[in-house]
Amino acid sequence: MDKIELSFTLNGREVTQAVPLDARLLDVLRYDCGCTGTKEGCGEGECGACTVLLDDLPVASCLVPAFQVAGRSVETVESTGASLADDLNETGAAQCGACTPGVVMTTRWLSEHPEVLEGVPLRMMMGGNLCRCTGYDAIIAGVNRVLGREAEA
Ligand code: FES
Ligand code: FES
Repeated sequence: MDKIELSFTLNGREVTQAVPLDARLLDVLRYDCGCTGTKEGCGEGECGACTVLLDDLPVASCLVPAFQVAGRSVETVESTGASLADDLNETGAAQCGACTPGVVMTTRWLSEHPEVLEGVPLRMMMGGNLCRCTGYDAIIAGVNRVLGREAEA
């Protein structure tokens, strides 16, 4: 497969990588850029484990062709402070941890865009992040804690 020179902003730093034309963003992040915090679960856009922020919007990086991020900004869980994950985990929101990086990125995005939760249940906004371990109550409690919300919506 032919390679392309791909330049984009990753966690605030300009990076250039030679990547296969058909590479997924998820693989470029993990294997070319060393951002292994981003996880692969389903590889089909269903589970949200691979969530990153692309130009400040959450996306499933397993579904994004890497060439589409040329000149754009990507942020991964490595750019998110440990305190957010620690706060999230106060409620037991992480067990095996496979979903946790995606949950962290969605939570971070919600914390930076609280207006999107007006009139929308939090469980719906977290619906793109599947978890096979927790039964979700601990995650919802953790996200509410991070967002400074009293109750489950
Ligand atoms: S690995 Fe990307 S959505 Fe599941
Ligand atoms: S903690 Fe295991 S998948 Fe969520």
